[in-house]
Amino acid sequence: MLFDDLGSTSWHNRHHRVFAQLDELLVAAGVSDLTVVIVGPGGVTRPMSPFLNDAARTNSAARKVVGDLARYSDQLLRRLPFVSLRSLEPIELDRALSMPHRLIAVDRSARLLDAVRRDLPNAECKVIDIARHAIDASADLVVAMNVISRLGDAAPAGVRNVMAALNGGGWIVMDDRSARQHLVDNHRVSQVGEKTYRVAPSDGARKSVVP
Ligand SMILES: C[S@@+](CC[C@H](N)C(=O)[O-])C[C@H]1O[C@@H](n2cnc3c(N)ncnc32)[C@H](O)[C@@H]1O
Repeated sequence: MLFDDLGSTSWHNRHHRVFAQLDELLVAAGVSDLTVVIVGPGGVTRPMSPFLNDAARTNSAARKVVGDLARYSDQLLRRLPFVSLRSLEPIELDRALSMPHRLIAVDRSARLLDAVRRDLPNAECKVIDIARHAIDASADLVVAMNVISRLGDAAPAGVRNVMAALNGGGWIVMDDRSARQHLVDNHRVSQVGEKTYRVAPSDGARKSVVP
């Protein structure tokens, strides 16, 4: 492929607040270890990464200009398949979770998953197109931010594949747009925090190891 149309976050700590609250919720629920699947984590170019804005910091106006310029450059550069990537979201999620966890990253892009492996050697990486294939994992928590909304007509299939990877009683973190369209009308799903939901077990479903 000449150009890679990889999607991305393009700044640090985009979901910082959500991940911090998620950890508090898990701790309050007594979760002591868990299997996490992160779907569609996105990536930025490694060369631009240090210059991108950081949502967890207050940036000066000058620093913001640098961050914005880096973001536009990043959007062009990451289309070049030979430029190496960093996937910020798995690193930030890994850091936010205070309990032991097994991290599985799922994306349709093998190039992106190479970047995940480089920063998180213990993460398991699976190249899967969730619009077409099931996720062969059994998770207590699935994070699927800004990926379902990118699937167009295949979004319902993508949600089914994401939900099927979740153990009964499991947790799901999803952006508002996707959740509004695909989660909130599901009677098994209740919102427990910002962009954070819990899914009641269906009859005969796998039991979650989390409380
Ligand atoms: C817009 S980025 C989202 C990045 C990050 N999660 C965020 O919230 O900013 C979309 C991500 O989903 C991945 N993706 C898109 N379609 C996919 C599919 N059908 N199956 C698996 N991953 C997909 C892209 O490769 C990319 O990593």
